[in-house]
Amino acid sequence: MSGTHPHGPRRPLRRRTAVGASALLLLVLLLAGCAASPPAGRTPSDDTVALLLPDAKTARYETFDRPLFEARIAELGDYRVLYANADQDAAKQQQQAESAMTAGAGVLVLDPVDANAAISIVTSANAKGVPVISYDRLVAGGDLAYYISFDNEKVGVLQAEAFVKALRDRRGEGGILMVNGSPTDSNAALFKEGAHSIIDESGLRVLAEYDTPGWNPEKAQEWVAGQIAQHGDAIAGVYAANDATAGGAIAALRVAGVDPLPVVTGQDAELSAIQRILTGDQHMTVYKAIKPQAELAAEVAVQLLEGEEVTAPLEIEGTPATLLDPVAVTVDDIMSTVVADGFWSVEDICTPAYADACEAAGIG
Ligand code: GAL
Repeated sequence: MSGTHPHGPRRPLRRRTAVGASALLLLVLLLAGCAASPPAGRTPSDDTVALLLPDAKTARYETFDRPLFEARIAELGDYRVLYANADQDAAKQQQQAESAMTAGAGVLVLDPVDANAAISIVTSANAKGVPVISYDRLVAGGDLAYYISFDNEKVGVLQAEAFVKALRDRRGEGGILMVNGSPTDSNAALFKEGAHSIIDESGLRVLAEYDTPGWNPEKAQEWVAGQIAQHGDAIAGVYAANDATAGGAIAALRVAGVDPLPVVTGQDAELSAIQRILTGDQHMTVYKAIKPQAELAAEVAVQLLEGEEVTAPLEIEGTPATLLDPVAVTVDDIMSTVVADGFWSVEDICTPAYADACEAAGIG
């Protein structure tokens, strides 16, 4: 658990009416001689928020989500962020949430490793009066204050539409593999659902399908290697649910000397994936603008710390929610999406090893 203390402008002085009301209640209970014992650890503070992210194998969390969230919080005032990454370990995430609350976190921004296991984090926070924002992935229960994500089913649809189109354009024979996301991730189920809604109607033959534990690229690589041993040249395409697993799949295909490479999808617009798209190793990725996501989470967290009412354009499973729009990226869209948005610069992408590919694609 690490803490940062931004030196932004001082917060305006304000009092939470809820605090006043609970102080009054406590006084009444004390006078009545039946006060409950105080909770262990510090009471939730109104200047501290915990950001609890799920995994370090996927580049987005440390590269974008965390710094963008912390930067927006620093702009909003003199608040403290307690940060922890669970490394795909649900039990570790539970401990991180408890430590954050013991350290005084007044709001949890939680991206759950395991949608079901995380219910107990929400229940524990609810009991302490700590609101929880479900960040990127929806916790499967508990009383959530807010949910902010992307349209995750649409992510799967975008992947599969580009995938099916590319396979048709190639007019090749053969079937496809599906490398899905983590079986404990609620988003992974939605990506898969969206992808199947297109693939199942396309006439493509699914040779085999795999849910990658912890989105682990090495596990994806190992599984794809096994499938190559079985199906060999009959693999025309690999639907991979994100860029990390796409990287694993492509590594397996390269090791086995599969040539040409099958059509491979991805998600997250990771720099290495954009470069693979340039060289033709990967067909597409899905760009999700993490800045508005992280910034909105920071803004809602501060509103909750301040005891303000939050509003949202949607309600999902009873929770106020915002869903942002994902965008498909093939080689033709790199400039108009990730570069135009400042997600990656031409300098980031076009390192000397990619200079020729950049020129050929008209990037720069
Ligand atoms: C998903 C998330 C993706 C991806 C993946 C791996 O839930 O929406 O952006 O990174 O997890 O952690």
